[in-house]
Amino acid sequence: MGASLAVKPLGPRHDRAGFSCGNPSLDDFIRTKARKEHELGFSAVFVAVETPGDRTIRGYYSLSALSVVVQGIPPEARKRFPRYPFVPTTLLGRLARGSPFHGQRVGEFLLLDALRRALRSSEQVGSHAVVVDAIDEAAILFYAKFGFVPSDERPDRLYLPIASIRRLGL
Ligand SMILES: CC(C)(COP(=O)(O)OP(=O)(O)OC[C@H]1O[C@@H](n2cnc3c(N)ncnc32)[C@H](O)[C@@H]1OP(=O)(O)O)[C@@H](O)C(=O)NCCC(=O)NCCS
Repeated sequence: MGASLAVKPLGPRHDRAGFSCGNPSLDDFIRTKARKEHELGFSAVFVAVETPGDRTIRGYYSLSALSVVVQGIPPEARKRFPRYPFVPTTLLGRLARGSPFHGQRVGEFLLLDALRRALRSSEQVGSHAVVVDAIDEAAILFYAKFGFVPSDERPDRLYLPIASIRRLGL
């Protein structure tokens, strides 16, 4: 069964220093960069906690607006596009599950929550797809399980069209 957690915007009460997922750059981001990026509007950072008042971060993800060159979109997807050089997308910049919470389907929970949020946000500000830059081969496999497809441009950059997310009925 999937995890059932509360998701909150990262705030001062959350224990950022105590978060560890085993990947140094993802640990460093939440510990030292996320608050600042959030304040500056570079990333919106969301944390999964057990209950709304809990301080312990079980996992997190970040979302940002991203324009990608049209050639970066898989050819099949761009057949019906208007002739613009750039395509508006939503970047799922980072996603990580804390090591102590392994085996609880927190990763899946975080990803589905991020996709739901990206879908809702695309109803207010246009976005054609969710884009992720997978950190390693394992991350590519994780995202592929949920229907993300690689771009021609970069093997680590994966896409999931908003239309596909809508069909998931999240
Ligand atoms: C990738 C990560 C988020 C997965 O989180 P998790 O809590 O272990 O994942 P879940 O238990 O929810 O797994 C969901 C599904 O993905 C699969 N999955 C999880 N990690 C996987 C991996 N490394 N490779 C292939 N499949 C994977 C699971 O087997 C499961 O599949 P199933 O539905 O067939 O059972 C987590 O391992 C993590 O935080 N890693 C470090 C950071 C990282 O690599 N982030 C990727 C973003 S760049």
